[in-house]
Amino acid sequence: MSFYVTTPIYYVNSTPHIGHAYTTIAADILARHRRQRGEETFFLTGTDEHGSNIPRVAEEAGLDLQEFVDRNAAAFREMTVRVNASNDFFVRTTDDRHKALVQEFLQRIFDRGDIFESVYAGLYCTRCESFYTEAELVDGLCPQHGIPVEFVEEKNYFFRLSAYREPLLRLYEERPDIVLPSFRYNEARSFIERGLDDISVSRASQRWGVPVPWDPTQIVYVWVDALINYWSALAFARPGEDLRPRFWPEVRHLLAKDILKFHCVIWPALLLAAGVEVPKQLFVHGYLLLDERKMSKSVGNVIDPIDLVEVYGVDPLRFYLVRVATFGQDGSISIDGLHERYERELGNDLGNLLSRTTAMIARYREGSLRPTEVSGELAAELDRIREGVAARLDDFDLTGGLEVVWELVRTLNRHVEQVAPWELAKEDARADELDRALYELADGLRAVAVALAGFVPDTAERILSALAQPIDLEWDGIVAGRALAADGIGPAPPLFPRVDAPTAAA
Ligand code: MSP
Repeated sequence: MSFYVTTPIYYVNSTPHIGHAYTTIAADILARHRRQRGEETFFLTGTDEHGSNIPRVAEEAGLDLQEFVDRNAAAFREMTVRVNASNDFFVRTTDDRHKALVQEFLQRIFDRGDIFESVYAGLYCTRCESFYTEAELVDGLCPQHGIPVEFVEEKNYFFRLSAYREPLLRLYEERPDIVLPSFRYNEARSFIERGLDDISVSRASQRWGVPVPWDPTQIVYVWVDALINYWSALAFARPGEDLRPRFWPEVRHLLAKDILKFHCVIWPALLLAAGVEVPKQLFVHGYLLLDERKMSKSVGNVIDPIDLVEVYGVDPLRFYLVRVATFGQDGSISIDGLHERYERELGNDLGNLLSRTTAMIARYREGSLRPTEVSGELAAELDRIREGVAARLDDFDLTGGLEVVWELVRTLNRHVEQVAPWELAKEDARADELDRALYELADGLRAVAVALAGFVPDTAERILSALAQPIDLEWDGIVAGRALAADGIGPAPPLFPRVDAPTAAA
């Protein structure tokens, strides 16, 4: 089995914020999880560098174009590293290898007859890189960004999108899970049902982009250039190897609802037109909101993920973003909310469980762990976790998957209280019971670590190390009785040390 997951490639006209980190973290969780299941996995992210306003923004910054995009692409790459994303490649649309494949892709559609020349006259938002009709504007402004739109009139090449209404509807009919969640499937489908207009796929008045292969006086429309990254990157991500045959049929695109139409309507149509297989699945998630509004650079209500990583660490941020909203729905985030979950769920539920377990092994058994029998109930719970988390993650239900793991954390906390190892330790005659209680806790925590590894990779390793267990993250290892005999277990330092509460201004 192979698995290929992508994030949108982010515009370099701004710097990364938590909204971008959100999709990257979500894709990373899925990729790490599939690797644990032994699947051949490829995870792609990157930057979209040919936006029509890039030349202007670069000029305002007083920088040469390439230097400007290099600098902002580096900021996105840095964000990827700081959120601990395990991407296999970082694609940039200014890469010559990508540009050549954009030309090849477009030429295919041209040769098959679905690109023609016409004149475009209409309104254009340079932030969405999208055309609008008068009726779609809100108070005369772009409905997404609230900024003025520009009137554009020029000779362009057009893609015959209108011809793809029927093929797309057939595709949606045959593959009811092609777009998830189902309410997004319905949204995309009704958009197609209403009828599709042909779209302009080139720009005459610009130079920054990929030249149209049969007419280099025009450049390829930035959205077409950008979408092709998902396919092109596989061709050159590994020198000397074309990964497309292996991974393309398994592609899963993650995106937020702002770019649903491009991904769920235009992209499959372009692929059909070029004779390339359509994506296996597209998962459309919601917005992270701050003060009830979508967090975005144009609104100005952004949080820099790196700031939060510096205070709380990367895993608490990853944990919080999965937990704050059901993946797929919008969710309001706040620093207070992050702080609260950090203390209550990470610190108390998980951190204390590990501290107590290791402290008791150190104190009552001089740091030695010896395998014993494990209660049937706990064993059954581990089986349930192994299957339940995998099933949820197969459905992109990251929030549900993490909740299933947390049920085990809560079970283990109840188990400590019920078994009360500190009482057993008072009676020599109950030494076997104490051995078993300590082993059950350590074994359960080891399973928690493996189940959490996709979500909070550093924490998972720290738990295993604290229990002197090998860093073996194999998914099938989530079964009872896998913790190995070990010595030298000492009281673990807090997994989530105290952090000062945010001040009112934060
Ligand atoms: N360059 C295009 C995408 C081309 S993909 C072929 C683009 N770039 S973007 O920088 O604007 O990134 C948009 C994506 O960033 C969203 O679809 C989503 O994945 C992520 N998010 C940006 N802000 C977000 C929120 N406030 N909330 C959730 N996700 C957000 O569009």
